[in-house]
Amino acid sequence: MRYIDLFCGIGGFRIAINQALRPGNIKPVCVFSCDIDSDAQNIYQMNFGEQPAGDITQIKAEDIPNHDILLAGFPCQPFSICGQLKGFEDTRGTLFFDIARILACKKPNYFILENVKQLVGHNQGKTLKAIIEVLEELGYTVEYKVLNALDFGLPQKRERIFIVGYRQPLPFQWDIQKIPMKPLSDILEPQVSDFYYASEKIRNNRLVKYQGKIDTEPTIWHENKAGHISAYPYSCALRAGASYNYLLVNGQRRLTEREMLRLQGFPDEFKMVTSYSTARRLIGNSVTVPCVVFVLNCLLNQ
Ligand SMILES: C[S@@+](CC[C@H](N)C(=O)[O-])C[C@H]1O[C@@H](n2cnc3c(N)ncnc32)[C@H](O)[C@@H]1O
Repeated sequence: MRYIDLFCGIGGFRIAINQALRPGNIKPVCVFSCDIDSDAQNIYQMNFGEQPAGDITQIKAEDIPNHDILLAGFPCQPFSICGQLKGFEDTRGTLFFDIARILACKKPNYFILENVKQLVGHNQGKTLKAIIEVLEELGYTVEYKVLNALDFGLPQKRERIFIVGYRQPLPFQWDIQKIPMKPLSDILEPQVSDFYYASEKIRNNRLVKYQGKIDTEPTIWHENKAGHISAYPYSCALRAGASYNYLLVNGQRRLTEREMLRLQGFPDEFKMVTSYSTARRLIGNSVTVPCVVFVLNCLLNQ
């Protein structure tokens, strides 16, 4: 099973395809990966021994090796433009165009795309409709679904759209069997250094603002844009660009790099040697591994 890993980030799709194909004894082979972010490239190289290529817009589709499946968690950048799209040519200037031109040239049997849930409602649904029309014009049957990491065993509320395409007829089904969420205690590290603790001022401020009861079980305190604090037995979505104290364990401390990776379903062997702020950005951008494993199973088990 040859695949390409576009906008690969730190390799969430790659971990997922390795996990999904292991039971069937099929060896997935990554024949091309790319990400423009040099920090993501370094982490990818550290874990998979391969340096991804850079800017996809500069790569000719003919130079990409043939593959069976294209995987891409593409950035939400094209939304502002995509709403008015009429067809393939019209997608020029968007990163979705780069996916479409590779599909047009290489015609892999399958693809899986991932994006934020907001894509569904963007521009009254016209953006998603335009994207699906382009993919159908390219010869694919297209299905999509919003999946929540909470339904796949992880204590993180993270909703993402997955768009799947296949060229040959398939009895495709989103056969969701919800996996009970791991407790936060399975994710949290027992001892963390002072570095992760918010200042006394911030902790006191959270306590003053928080109206609920203080639980003995671990909770993650989430501050929304209006400054309202809620505490849940799971994390709200990790976000690449969120403020530093947007999520605080028990209202006290930030998540460690390992905890954030666990919330995204990455195995503990995954290496993340970089600054804390870079780790937050890269992990917040990454895809949730068990959701991709599920989508791959729906697609390939047929
Ligand atoms: C939503 S993230 C995908 C993360 C990935 N799925 C993972 O598991 O880590 C989108 C990625 O697209 C990359 N990107 C943005 N513009 C790009 C471009 N022109 N060429 C290649 N990669 C690009 C960003 O650096 C970012 O890592």
